[in-house]
Amino acid sequence: GAVVLALGLTACSGEDGAGVIDTVGSVDFVNPLAIPPLAESTVNAVGERVFDLTAEAGTTEFTPGVVTETWGYNRSYLGPTIVARRGENVRINVNNDLDVATTVHWHGANLPAEMDGGPHQMVEPGAEWSPNFEIDQPASTLWYHPHPEGDTEHQVEMGLAGVFIVQDDEEAALNLPRSYGVDDIPVVVQDRRFDENGQFVTDVRGYIGPIGDQLLVNGTLAPYLDVTSEVVRLRLLNGSTSRVYDFGLSDGRSFDLIGTDGGLLEEAAPMDGIRLSPGERAEVLVELVPGETVNLQSNPPDLGISASAATRNAGDDTLDVLELRAADTLSSIGETASTLASIEPLDQADATVDRSFTLNGYTINNRLMDMTRIDETIEAGATEVWTVDNAMPLPHNFHVHGVQFQMLRVGTEPPPVELAGWKDTIYLEPGVRYELIMQFAEYTDPDFPYMFHCHMLSHEDAGMMGQFVVVEPGEEAGTPPTAHDAI
Ligand code: C2O
Ligand code: CU
Repeated sequence: GAVVLALGLTACSGEDGAGVIDTVGSVDFVNPLAIPPLAESTVNAVGERVFDLTAEAGTTEFTPGVVTETWGYNRSYLGPTIVARRGENVRINVNNDLDVATTVHWHGANLPAEMDGGPHQMVEPGAEWSPNFEIDQPASTLWYHPHPEGDTEHQVEMGLAGVFIVQDDEEAALNLPRSYGVDDIPVVVQDRRFDENGQFVTDVRGYIGPIGDQLLVNGTLAPYLDVTSEVVRLRLLNGSTSRVYDFGLSDGRSFDLIGTDGGLLEEAAPMDGIRLSPGERAEVLVELVPGETVNLQSNPPDLGISASAATRNAGDDTLDVLELRAADTLSSIGETASTLASIEPLDQADATVDRSFTLNGYTINNRLMDMTRIDETIEAGATEVWTVDNAMPLPHNFHVHGVQFQMLRVGTEPPPVELAGWKDTIYLEPGVRYELIMQFAEYTDPDFPYMFHCHMLSHEDAGMMGQFVVVEPGEEAGTPPTAHDAI
């Protein structure tokens, strides 16, 4: 009760209620951080690791006694954490107990388009969809969430999302914290706003979408984490529908960035903060001394837009996220690895195709999403350079399905360290040209498209999305299945 009140008082200064919020100092961290359970799995007769996810409706008490209607996978809010290892074949039985159709997209995974869970793979109420694919990418923090055409924001807002951890031998050989829930912690950050009956409201909107005045971390309001080790690994996921964060520690100490969307960096990099737009992930190591308390917070992110636009879009907030409480005695794993993954740089000389994408209004290259139109046709195995421009003075970001990319240039510069590893989603500052290089997999299907889109979900729902197919050399794009025929 006290928490809700304190935040409510600071939240509403703008005309539309989306003024600048500062919750630092006003959050009493009263709730232990929920850790999503690990998804159970079995290995079937053909050697596939099998998981079960059921999308279902339920209720959640984020504040004791206040019952909020929510959705989750196998539970009332969010879903279990899936862990699978490179080289394994996984099968995920997705059941839909909701009364609306949904999909489940494996954000960041390299996999055949038909297994990707995009808007063509609708799972009707009562139906089951069982994608199977080989884990064929480096150790990383991926995630999963619904992707129905025009309804993604609402379904994610209700609570459908989960973390998907990929392990591999290279990561396993490094001295890094990896006891799940102990020193290796998923941190799914989502802003939300509640009405007087405790239900989610989304009608307080900036240009970027709904703006919450409270944060849920793994579905916990005002969370604290009891830390029992000198170094804790946080797998940060911006699981919000629209808000951009700049995560840092309350006393300004640095942390080590060790991984980005698609895997570990080559070298651990000390940072004071990291900006994450919706869908982006970062793995960071935070060092603590016995008995101390330090907060993860979000400072006003530098969105590359004018201050007045930032205020109007509620991008200018200072938010308390998670209190880290170190125990009086901390365990140690010794010095953590500083040399991490080997990343083969993709070479622009190998690129056979250049494409450019301009985001404007809710369009990409002046087109709104059309489920029946294939926008780009790509040869299997091709290396391509994609140039992406945000032509508006307002925030957008950009996500590509089915592939991890590297950044060649941000403007005219080489990428900063947080964009120098594997990425699948990037923030787009207005007026800055982003050059991405990527090599597409060998999975071909002329009919089944992958998506590229802005991951501010109201923008995606409004049409800021396009489709590409990967084909054999010389093959033509076919016809996408209609959404409700696909399964
Ligand atoms: Cu995380 Cu196309 O989405
Ligand atoms: Cu956008």
